[in-house]
Amino acid sequence: MDHFAYQNQQAYCEDVALKEIAAAVGTPCFVYSAATLRQHVKRIQTAFSSYPTMPCYAVKANSNLSILREIFALGFGADIVSLGELERSLKAGVQADKIVYSGVGKRRDEIEAALRCGIYSFNVESYSELDAIAEVAVSLGRKARVSLRVNPNIDAKTNPKITTGLFSTKFGVIEAEALAMADRIRELPSLQLVGVGCHIGSQIVEVKPMAEAARRLAQFALGLQERGHRLEFIDMGGGLGIRYRNEDPPAPEAYAEALLQEIKPTGLRLLIEPGRVVVGNIGVLLCQVITTKKTPEKSFLIVDGAMNDLIRPSMYDSYHEIRTVDFEDTHTEIMDVVGPICETGDYFGKDRALPKGLKAGDLIYLRSAGAYGSSMASNYNSRPRAPEVLVDGKAFRVVRRRESLDDLWRLEL
Ligand code: LLP
Repeated sequence: MDHFAYQNQQAYCEDVALKEIAAAVGTPCFVYSAATLRQHVKRIQTAFSSYPTMPCYAVKANSNLSILREIFALGFGADIVSLGELERSLKAGVQADKIVYSGVGKRRDEIEAALRCGIYSFNVESYSELDAIAEVAVSLGRKARVSLRVNPNIDAKTNPKITTGLFSTKFGVIEAEALAMADRIRELPSLQLVGVGCHIGSQIVEVKPMAEAARRLAQFALGLQERGHRLEFIDMGGGLGIRYRNEDPPAPEAYAEALLQEIKPTGLRLLIEPGRVVVGNIGVLLCQVITTKKTPEKSFLIVDGAMNDLIRPSMYDSYHEIRTVDFEDTHTEIMDVVGPICETGDYFGKDRALPKGLKAGDLIYLRSAGAYGSSMASNYNSRPRAPEVLVDGKAFRVVRRRESLDDLWRLEL
């Protein structure tokens, strides 16, 4: 469910016409619906309400401060992967003791900052990282809470670039190594083992691999407890997919049921790190047509947004639905929707049926651009990054301004 719909042949986000936003803010720009965001957060909370669960929003999916503020105000914690995400999350009001820190390469300054503010747990991804965390903790006279990220070698059946639970990837440690790490933690007084976890991938649309991973982690946690380790939680990571086109991802309720069935018998608190499912469908990327052209083989719709604004089609060959802001129930034309960047890979959609006769100045929008859109944007081709607008009922406000040309070279000497 989202709050993007047509009213009187015009595309709206909640009670604001996209055309009005384009006129006020310009294009390209990201438009987010606050109502959709709150609805998603609450739906996840309700789905897990029968069991002690702490959802930690994966900040990388959309790290705009205003989006984070909404999510944290509703009680979510944060899953972070860098110092930047730590500071952003704190700025946006997250409680430090609801932060988990993931990632295969945490620098010492990052570990130190996280320890100083008292995060809930480090998700440890290698043996050597344990020693680094222990050393920093000793130097600060603090105890670090750590959780072991296991690589269960389970195929999440998603795009290879976002598959993270196989031995061929850099993530987590195998169970035998995690056991050795648990024993090592016992010898290090500056560390406290509090959990185990995994994250097998992103945009997962089947419940089976997630249930299998939960079963494996639950077994592994029980094994650790039998060896005398006292755990507090199991962290099942993120990964729940959304509908971009015709996928049929499990509903949050089915996802919760599958995880809880495996985790409940352990009695351990459950952590989840949802990103995409929270923000993916809260946003669109609004663009304007610059021109059209034809080759002997193709028709192109050239718009002012590009791969630097939304890299997902170029990078993962992913599908984003493309619609016109003026609803036109007319004949269609098959076109490739592309940006102005000097790469053939700069496209938003191939062979799309769009209303015939689109011309310069017409507005289009890409759906499901709330996750991994703006947070992956760049300045490639010296293009200022697009602004972000948050709609709330009849009101809207710019929550990140458009970069200026001066912003592009501000840091250059
Ligand atoms: N936890 C960890 C440790 C992660 O690495 C990720 C995502 C998440 C949670 C959140 O996963 P989600 O619920 O959003 O699936 N740029 C790619 C997605 C990369 C995901 C990276 N890790 C895309 O646009 O599809």
